[in-house]
Amino acid sequence: MQLQLSTWPEVEAYLATSKAILIPIGSTEQHGPNGLLGTDALCPEIIARRAGDEAGILIGPTFNVGQAQHHMGFAGTITLRPSTMIAAMLDWTQSLTRHGFERIYWLNGHGGNIATITAAFSEMYHGVTFSGVGHNAPPLRCSLRNWWELPGVMDICRQLFPVGEGSHATPSEVSVTWAGYPQVVNSITMTPRIAPNGPILDADDYRRRFPDGRIGSDPSQASIAAGEKIVAASVRAVISEFKQFAAS
Ligand code: NI
Repeated sequence: MQLQLSTWPEVEAYLATSKAILIPIGSTEQHGPNGLLGTDALCPEIIARRAGDEAGILIGPTFNVGQAQHHMGFAGTITLRPSTMIAAMLDWTQSLTRHGFERIYWLNGHGGNIATITAAFSEMYHGVTFSGVGHNAPPLRCSLRNWWELPGVMDICRQLFPVGEGSHATPSEVSVTWAGYPQVVNSITMTPRIAPNGPILDADDYRRRFPDGRIGSDPSQASIAAGEKIVAASVRAVISEFKQFAAS
């Protein structure tokens, strides 16, 4: 069940049965020669929508631009400064709590977002405490889960890609997007086959160290079949975890 594809009476009826919603959150940033700019937003979105269809979970719109300053050396990347992202997450949350939602599960697709999402949660909880209504305020609780850290998922990624998984523009995440959008599959050759590793500093340094955008990865190994396996395991895990969170 997707919020954007629901009517307000349908959301009101959902709220009578559950106060919990799942929001995919990611980034719009370069993902190497064969990865989509939307990869980090599309991965949690693909997993969330399937989980929503299977388990009747309400899936919110995808928060699809995040912390991508270090990717700004590559065309198409869009970034939010941390203060903007925190402010936007607060407004999304306050809109939802105004309607009665009390559990917001953010399924994240981008490692660079983690610190800012955690800071946003802290701002939200301060807002509840400082609102002056104290214990009469709805008991807001947020949860952050990186999709690749869902129970069992990393094991499957390692089995599928024992060499060249790397840390950015990975064959696993490219495979997940291909499972969701088979029309974008390509067979681009990359040199070197496995990209270099190194630290992430500023945008200019990033482009010098990692000229085609990848870090330590060989995403030419990506496949729809691999993506389907990763998505299936992620969907199972997220449904189970979301249900526990909703009941907490
Ligand atoms: Ni990524």
